[in-house]
Amino acid sequence: MSTMAMASGCVQQLQDLEPTTQDFESAVVEGLSAAVKTLPCKFFYDAAGSALFDRICKLPEYYPTRTELRILERHAGEMAELLGPEAALVEFGSGSANKVGLILSRLENPRVYVPVDISRSHLLAGAAALARAFPELRVAPVCADYTRAFRLPEVARSAPGRLGGFFPGSTIGNFTRPEAVEFLRQTRQTLGSGAVMIVGADLRKDEAVLNAAYDDSAGVTAAFNLNLLRRINRELGGNFDLAGFAHEARWNADEGRVEMHLVSRGRQQVRIGGQHFDFMPGESIHTENSYKYTIDGFRELASEAGYEPLRVWTDAKQLFSVHALRAR
Ligand code: AVJ
Repeated sequence: MSTMAMASGCVQQLQDLEPTTQDFESAVVEGLSAAVKTLPCKFFYDAAGSALFDRICKLPEYYPTRTELRILERHAGEMAELLGPEAALVEFGSGSANKVGLILSRLENPRVYVPVDISRSHLLAGAAALARAFPELRVAPVCADYTRAFRLPEVARSAPGRLGGFFPGSTIGNFTRPEAVEFLRQTRQTLGSGAVMIVGADLRKDEAVLNAAYDDSAGVTAAFNLNLLRRINRELGGNFDLAGFAHEARWNADEGRVEMHLVSRGRQQVRIGGQHFDFMPGESIHTENSYKYTIDGFRELASEAGYEPLRVWTDAKQLFSVHALRAR
């Protein structure tokens, strides 16, 4: 635990469980030692990666962010109604927390906002901004990998109204189906029976639209993917040659997901700290999955995780969906 540095009357003490460099190194070594090389996508979001992700969200090809924002703008009132008065809202993977304001501003007398994020700098900036925008709100930030169990801050547990969860952006798409079920089960544990969970889930659509969203013509997604190697070089003393790897986005129809890969352009050896890793020409590092759901498929998943699907909102083109679920 450490006290938040920024001066703001409404921001509560930070619960700090940010992953260490040691956690990063273990994950990288494990991923690159496997027969099929992988790197965990949660490490994309260092300062440079977060800035690149913000740029991705504004790309013409990357429809999810703007589509979800439109859905939230249009239906936040209905979502707020499901949450009820004096609620406490927990956002999993809050990042810069630029969507939750749409719901908070429609809630009747919201009491507590708990942003949870793996990046302490993003988390604290978002927490401070929300505390400024909603002076009556108590903001209780938790710096943690939200896929792990964490203890909900006392102020949230003692709020008079309902507990709400918010997981926008189709971040749930980064999980395999069993992982997504496990994650939702865990949020249900954390929030408790009767809680209302609002989740954004990207929908299946034309393959060309999906591939373009993950391989844009300006090359921002490529830079975002390659930045993971740059981060390994900087933080773990690696010697990746970024020009030696090509970004690739692949729609995997059998699995219902877009995959991102970094493909070795030739035979090469990479050193990280004391260890080395060999790459064959065309060998890939699988860096991300982005699962796409059908509305019914997602509702079924939610039921398996102990939630009752309440409502779903989509855009006119059915590109994206936002679900309201109630914890059983
Ligand atoms: C933030 C995980 C939802 O999968 O669409 C964007 C991340 N990766 N472009 C996604 C991402 C490549 C994004 N999520």
